[in-house]
Amino acid sequence: MGKNKLKKFAQNELFAHVIQPSSSEVLNTDFRLKGKWNEEFGNANPIVLELACGKGEYSVGMAEIYPEKNFIGIDIKGARIFSGAKEVEEKRLSNVRFLRTKIDFITSFFAQNEISEIWILFADPQLEKPRKRLTSSIFLNRYIQILQPDGLLNLKSDSTDLYNFTRDESIPEFNAINGAVSFEKKADTNALYEEGIEEFDETMQAVLNIRTFYEQMWLEQGKKIMFLSYGMRK
Ligand SMILES: C[S@@+](CC[C@H](N)C(=O)[O-])C[C@H]1O[C@@H](n2cnc3c(N)ncnc32)[C@H](O)[C@@H]1O
Repeated sequence: MGKNKLKKFAQNELFAHVIQPSSSEVLNTDFRLKGKWNEEFGNANPIVLELACGKGEYSVGMAEIYPEKNFIGIDIKGARIFSGAKEVEEKRLSNVRFLRTKIDFITSFFAQNEISEIWILFADPQLEKPRKRLTSSIFLNRYIQILQPDGLLNLKSDSTDLYNFTRDESIPEFNAINGAVSFEKKADTNALYEEGIEEFDETMQAVLNIRTFYEQMWLEQGKKIMFLSYGMRK
């Protein structure tokens, strides 16, 4: 690990709002905060996850827009999380946590119905490894365990492959197999900033205008931004 990354890793340890579990805390066991995240936040407000959060722009941005919700940014890369964690400290936001772990272990961290929304922003489309896509059936089967009924699954992406895969393959196939649980489409555009989403109110428009680090790069390259939103029925 480079010197700078090591420094950020050590600084993350000093932030009370960054949780970096050791492997023994999650290997074959549930994490100590599973089912207790509301106690961790000190309120009963809804908990929203930002998966593959990178620098956590959505966790920070949404925490400012919705002080009555709690946000947890999850990513495996500590140096990226550090940027968001620093901003949370500077802005004194009490409703954000960062969790450094693999999203693959998500059901060890959250209890049934503990989560109200999941946001996936500019995840790697994993063109060669469909099973690793964050909207593959493997991950959907994890999300349904932790999402509460009517919970939301939101995807913002620059990748036509990931957008098409999610919209036309993964979710329809999941819905066809799982009778009792399904994802119902609430919003869909393959040109978010050109078309907009009329039915969204001003607050939601502000949320969709938050730009992540990767999004900024793709916009500078002239790429179109796509957005999908689903409500989970169970
Ligand atoms: C392309 S970046 C996007 C980061 C951020 N959302 C943005 O838009 O700037 C993808 C991120 O996903 C994280 N990631 C990918 N697969 C992951 C996994 N299985 N568990 C945790 N993090 C993962 C990577 O570490 C990386 O920070």
